[in-house]
Amino acid sequence: MAGKKRAKKKIENKKQSKYISYRKDPLTKKIYQNVIDTYTKAAYVYDDKWKQYLASTEQAILQQLKLKGKETIVDAGCGTGSLLAAIREKFKHRGKIIGFDITPAMLDLAEAKLTFKSRFNTSLELELAHCENFSVKNNSVDVIICSSVLHHLPHPEKALHAFHRALKKGGRLLLVDFCTDYPTTQFIDWWQRLFHPAHHRAYRSSAVDEMLHKNKFSVVSFKTWKATPTLGVMLFDAKKK
Ligand SMILES: C[S@@+](CC[C@H](N)C(=O)[O-])C[C@H]1O[C@@H](n2cnc3c(N)ncnc32)[C@H](O)[C@@H]1O
Repeated sequence: MAGKKRAKKKIENKKQSKYISYRKDPLTKKIYQNVIDTYTKAAYVYDDKWKQYLASTEQAILQQLKLKGKETIVDAGCGTGSLLAAIREKFKHRGKIIGFDITPAMLDLAEAKLTFKSRFNTSLELELAHCENFSVKNNSVDVIICSSVLHHLPHPEKALHAFHRALKKGGRLLLVDFCTDYPTTQFIDWWQRLFHPAHHRAYRSSAVDEMLHKNKFSVVSFKTWKATPTLGVMLFDAKKK
């Protein structure tokens, strides 16, 4: 009971986050309030609860990235920042790293994780923003990673349009999310749509492939695999045409 009270107090404190003004933005509130509420409650247990899933998706992304260490990278929906921390560590990254997320509590954790003992001379920016509207300059980014966010988006094509705008010509988008090519994930998608207000929908890999082409990306490589016994995942590595 005492533990529950402590957790509740922490969440209450997070409502006083420095990003509070953003929560008053009417568009954000209207479209994303369910997402923000869900991840505000989940923030403190997120890394632990999703440990197996995150280990699998992060390893796949790190393998696919092959960075030189100087690129400008954006993690769209960066959550608690664990992928960015791993990128910085693995590639000894010296380029610019930008993470944005719509949930202040997740971003607060990312800030704590990423500003603690930075061993590399990285320029780091964290922003409270959403995938359809973030402040990165046009044609300025080498790589955008968007992992496990797509199923939350009511307008995924608007997000792809915004990613396209921010990328340099030839820049890469690594898009990772649940994949309903797998029957177990189809079931989870159906269940989540019924009972989980933050879940919009998951996609088949063929639908994402089509969306990417429609939004002027060419797919360089793609794979699907099971990140957990029930969750099928897809990873697209796509280039801005
Ligand atoms: C399942 S978590 C994934 C976090 C991280 N990318 C990872 O792989 O661990 C989804 C995250 O996306 C964020 N999110 C959901 N919709 C978003 C949007 N439209 N724009 C930015 N972030 C969003 C949530 O706040 C949450 O932190």
